[in-house]
Amino acid sequence: MCGIVGVVGNRNATDILMQGLEKLEYRGYDSAGIYVINKPESGRLIKSVGRIADLRAKIGIDVAGSTGIGHTRWATHGQATEANAHPHTSATGRFVLVHNGVIENYLQIKEEYLAGHTLKGETDTEIAVHLIGQFVEDGLSVLEAFKKALHIIEGSYAFALVDSQNPDTIYVAKNKSPLLIGLGDGYNMVCSDAMAMIRETNQFMEIHDKELVVLTKDNVEVTDYDGNAVEREAYTAELDLSDIGKGTYPYYMLKEIDEQPTVMRKLISTYADDKGNITVDPAIVKSVQEADRIYILAAGTSYNAGFASKSMIETLTDTPVELGIASEWGYNMPLLSKKPMFILLSQSGETADSRQVLVKANAMGIPSLTITNVPGSTLSREATYTMLLHAGPEIAVASTKAYTAQIAALAFLSKAVGEANGKKEALEFDLVHELSIVAQSIEASLSEREVIEKKVANLLATSRNAFYIGRGNDYYVAMEASLKLKEISYIQCEGFAAGELKHGTISLIEDGTPVLALISSSETVAAHTRGNIQEVAARGANVLTVVEEGLDKEGDDIVVNQVHPYLASISMVIPTQLIAYYASLQRGLDVDKPRNLAKAVTVE
Ligand code: M6R
Repeated sequence: MCGIVGVVGNRNATDILMQGLEKLEYRGYDSAGIYVINKPESGRLIKSVGRIADLRAKIGIDVAGSTGIGHTRWATHGQATEANAHPHTSATGRFVLVHNGVIENYLQIKEEYLAGHTLKGETDTEIAVHLIGQFVEDGLSVLEAFKKALHIIEGSYAFALVDSQNPDTIYVAKNKSPLLIGLGDGYNMVCSDAMAMIRETNQFMEIHDKELVVLTKDNVEVTDYDGNAVEREAYTAELDLSDIGKGTYPYYMLKEIDEQPTVMRKLISTYADDKGNITVDPAIVKSVQEADRIYILAAGTSYNAGFASKSMIETLTDTPVELGIASEWGYNMPLLSKKPMFILLSQSGETADSRQVLVKANAMGIPSLTITNVPGSTLSREATYTMLLHAGPEIAVASTKAYTAQIAALAFLSKAVGEANGKKEALEFDLVHELSIVAQSIEASLSEREVIEKKVANLLATSRNAFYIGRGNDYYVAMEASLKLKEISYIQCEGFAAGELKHGTISLIEDGTPVLALISSSETVAAHTRGNIQEVAARGANVLTVVEEGLDKEGDDIVVNQVHPYLASISMVIPTQLIAYYASLQRGLDVDKPRNLAKAVTVE
């Protein structure tokens, strides 16, 4: 993961780098550093273990310059120490480099090219900058040395390199890791994410894999690694500075949970016209129609959203749906149907595991659709088609509004395909109306937050383990609810099919074990789940019920407004998001930045 920011030709380089790093902190937050320089040989390198705030505390007014690079790290090679924090320097200290990604052949490079080099840390990045420095020592120009290194280095990377003898230039290259150029007035920038540059500019330029960019204050020169010029248009980002602020919220996660009714309405206005007709791109609809099987590939919460949508897609389109964990399918692609269609679900559009699958699908000529929140993201660029989630930037590491937006977007796609297929279920399903009801149901659940906060204090304050149980779609919601809880509260939690518990796992239930039961399906299914609740209660479990209105009974803890069954996963997940939020808050944890995690997982 990690985040990179760089600027050339702006006297406020330090401020730009620090502001940028604060916006990139979601990408990694175990250590950080900046290098700023004004004139040759005057550079300052400051690094710190911990958060960006720790780095800021080390930066005095003397750390100034017009060119600089910065980095926030999520450790892959070597622990979170100052020596391993970026930027890294070459043997003589002349070259300074930041890197996001994993250099797969770094040990081989060390053995083959860097005999006699002493390294300060254990990172693959340090080897890359030593390699470039060595090639310059051997007589190559900086550009030639960088190119030669790029031909040798294997793996994923986004690089920004500064030569302290010529601080008017930043050398940039990327392969499989995100990186973007920001165009300023009299200065230019480079960054992992547009969000971190939006305060300075809304003009951006993409960099594609295996392209090299020479960036000066008023020039952007893009070439391939053989030096052939590449023409690239700039584009205007739709992002707004206010979209990325926390406002009056204590945490982004709470803000993003609260935004979900608005996101549902935004999706309605995007994917339906005033008369309620679905406006999903006909080319996408046709491509799905032609498939004999839909394969949804994703990771984490996005994977759970795929499961939560499976039966709705199958019912509305009449096409079987298979789910795949992207990190597994990248290397173990199962036997596929004759006419597969791949749907890549990804909030960030940058998940390396999902991209690995997409690269394979493209090589096999399989049509693909990326459903993502980030326009212009790698998965969006590389898939045949894209549908956007329009959820606004999701900054908390724990994904919330992207999950619900993914299910809603899949509902629009399924209805469009089902209608085109003449499926009765699709024709009769008034999605626009039903999704408006979902938005209201979410609002009703959000207004119950204080009740939920109290219930959480009673149930989860000190527990180490917990279970979510449910049947059918509730089971899939249980998977997501448990991921959310463990991710930010560090409570070990499993989402379980309620009926499966008695086949082994029930042996883990003891006095006081929290079991959170989800009930939204039919009366019969609900009755079975209630039976399972009795079984765990009889063994001492401390049970909390989240039940859809109409199936509720006296004594239930949280009652969720009834919505159309296709969309119940959206309304049922809301209390579980709040449960995770309050559990984390009550334990005094950093809700938005849980330990060991990062928002965009751009390494395999
Ligand atoms: O950006 P993506 O949707 O591809 O990310 C996939 C997962 O890394 C992500 O959903 C992760 O599980 C979240 N942190 C969960 O809250």
